[in-house]
Amino acid sequence: MKMKILIVAGDGIGPEVTQEAVQILRSVAEMGSHDFEITEKLIGGVAIKAANTPLPQITLDTALKSDAVLLGAVGGNEFNSLPPERRPEAGLLQLRRALGGFANLRPAISYPQLASNSPLRAEVVEGANILFVRELLGGLYFGEPRKWDRDANVAWNTMRYTRDEVARVARVAFELASKRRKKVTSVDKANVLEVSQLWRATVMEIAQEYPEITLEHQYVDACAMHLMNDPRNFDVVLTENLFGDILSDEAAVITGSLGMLPSGTIGGTVNLYEPVHGSAPDIAGKGLANPIGAILTAAMLLRHSAGLERDAQAIEKSVRNVIGQGYRTADLARSKPDGQMVLTTREMGRRIHESLNQIIERRQAVHAV
Ligand code: IPM
Ligand code: MN
Repeated sequence: MKMKILIVAGDGIGPEVTQEAVQILRSVAEMGSHDFEITEKLIGGVAIKAANTPLPQITLDTALKSDAVLLGAVGGNEFNSLPPERRPEAGLLQLRRALGGFANLRPAISYPQLASNSPLRAEVVEGANILFVRELLGGLYFGEPRKWDRDANVAWNTMRYTRDEVARVARVAFELASKRRKKVTSVDKANVLEVSQLWRATVMEIAQEYPEITLEHQYVDACAMHLMNDPRNFDVVLTENLFGDILSDEAAVITGSLGMLPSGTIGGTVNLYEPVHGSAPDIAGKGLANPIGAILTAAMLLRHSAGLERDAQAIEKSVRNVIGQGYRTADLARSKPDGQMVLTTREMGRRIHESLNQIIERRQAVHAV
């Protein structure tokens, strides 16, 4: 198959983790004789420095002509005093809007070997497998009006959704749940917010199309608690933009590290793939970053944009293998070593790469017989 992939590695640990994900993509292309045309462009802080804008026109144009975009991370402390529209994050938000993907899929899985990495008890997290479906183009992030009126010392944002914006993301959640454990938990704040009342009414309406799915509603504050109390009780969690941003970081606690979480945004003209972790400027360039989130993000790209499900699964299996063998990056290392081996970003990437090559080679050998 033929495919154009744009890499926007961005800031902080973005480039080092993305590099490992790109190695994996190249390997899949080579072993499967796929033609992946991989291009790199600037976004975020590095783009502000080079071109005085967090999303240069050339990056946007190339993204729109690509079949998929893989992003590392954006943001850095030196930009913290800039107004929102000039910060690195603004480049990402502009890109999200331009590509049009509205359903951001964020799986959070507790791997058995990492269960004791969670500050929660292992018996609470073991077996948890949650898929967050975060609405990505609406709510407070994009709602108008928005302003900081400095003279009047007042600022406001708008949490706004139309029925159709809720309906389309709800359908994605129900479709995905029908291939999983058939449960959707819709998260809102309908006891206080009108926008959440519309959200809940719309989700209930769409649920009629999916009689085989169990639908449950939780207020976001209660959900934040239940996620920690009983993470196994969740299958698909459907929620609006800001709630999804917050709850998916919280869910990192279940997996053992934010560095484990991938994401993919679907539903628009071009799908956008980005690990959930940020730019982590404090550890950038030190080989301490965990590339697994980025590598699993590449797997999501192959699944949702290339239709290469078997390769996506092979990558996920490689990650499980390498973790099973006791390899850890710094974020996953525990004070009691019990057989774990701590690797740099590069080394972890290379181990996963080797395991993947073996899996694909074995698969091809079986097919050749
Ligand atoms: C995320 C990030 C972004 C968001 C930032 C960098 C704009 O936190 O993808 O979770 O808030 O959506
Ligand atoms: Mn976030």
